[in-house]
Amino acid sequence: MKFAPLVDRIAGGGADTWKVHDKAVAMKAAGRDITFLTIGDPDQAPADLVIEGARASLAAHHKGYAPIGGQPAVRAAIAERIARRSGSPCAPENIAITQGAQAALYCAMQCVAGAGDEVIAQDPVYATYGAVVAASGATMIKVPLRADLGFHPDLAAVAAAVTPRTRAILINSPHNPTGAVFDEAEKRALAELCRRHDLWLISDEVYEDMAFARPHVSVWSLTETTGRAIVVSSLSKSHAIPGFRLGWVAGPPMLVAHVTNLLMCMAFGGPPFIQEAVLPALRRDLPEVAGLREDYRRRGEAMAKLLGQAPGCAVAPPEGGMFLLLDVRPTGLSATAFAEGLLEIQGVAILPCDAFGANVAGRLRISLTLPDAALLDAGRRIVAFAEGLRRRPAA
Ligand SMILES: Cc1ncc(COP(=O)(O)O)c(C=O)c1O
Repeated sequence: MKFAPLVDRIAGGGADTWKVHDKAVAMKAAGRDITFLTIGDPDQAPADLVIEGARASLAAHHKGYAPIGGQPAVRAAIAERIARRSGSPCAPENIAITQGAQAALYCAMQCVAGAGDEVIAQDPVYATYGAVVAASGATMIKVPLRADLGFHPDLAAVAAAVTPRTRAILINSPHNPTGAVFDEAEKRALAELCRRHDLWLISDEVYEDMAFARPHVSVWSLTETTGRAIVVSSLSKSHAIPGFRLGWVAGPPMLVAHVTNLLMCMAFGGPPFIQEAVLPALRRDLPEVAGLREDYRRRGEAMAKLLGQAPGCAVAPPEGGMFLLLDVRPTGLSATAFAEGLLEIQGVAILPCDAFGANVAGRLRISLTLPDAALLDAGRRIVAFAEGLRRRPAA
């Protein structure tokens, strides 16, 4: 049987990224005690009012089809939240509710880019971006985030990458996997570039509540982006509910209308009890979210300090997000060899970053998603593994 050309464009997306994780899953299934620091799945409990909301909604049998682009009250709550946080107007017509930020990104990309277009993104990028852009038919042009700038964008290089084919610039801050939080001036410069060349600025703000080094500035707040900003976000990370698949795309009403058409042929609306469950969490900033942000800030600092003792490894506390980047290049091992050895000897699973982009080759992503004591125990085992490398006889 034949398949559509699409299947080749989306195949293999980040599959290599998960090899070590998959091996760790198999080892655990075989009875080995494994510590997983691979996936960005928050360990914190969700807020009680979210769980209670889901329970009450289901008890009231709110199990029918919901409006395709989301329930009006929930779209309004998201719009108000964006307006409250950004200081820029946002209306329900600017919002479509999607299955997480992932589907928001996919829908937005499908609606703004196509064959022959170019989308400028960064190196490294979150592992799904390649397939998302390729699915649209467009080509992703990767501009390195500068390691010497703490993985912040090289604005001149981004400007130089713009061609007549460029349709959009796609950014992500706080950034996965590097933890960089772009500052307001950087975002303004990118927004101005988009304005000058009539481009969309697509901003993945899924870690918006997890900025430590400086405040998160949504591109929605920038006047340069009026009419061209597309913000995707969700409650997956900030509210520790990735399984709820509750995200959104915010953009001009025409884009939202196109996205809603796409959602109609794709998802046909989301679960109403999920949308009702999160309504109170959208209407105000919950203390649980501040607590979770503080958890990741504290864990990032503590792990960076601990892993600073690992011979041949370089590390810095993240500026935001839920990951720590460990540079193992001085050990002489590749990131994959380091991760495989660490898994085998110490039973700790972390993610080689090579599939995120050439610019982070030799680094590993450590997910800070364990309670402090367990996380630091895993950190000590990483240090022990690195010490063991130093003692091993030369190959
Ligand atoms: C940068 C980035 N964007 C999007 C997503 C997807 O998030 P969601 O669960 O909201 O689909 C993730 C998840 O890890 C991510 O790291």
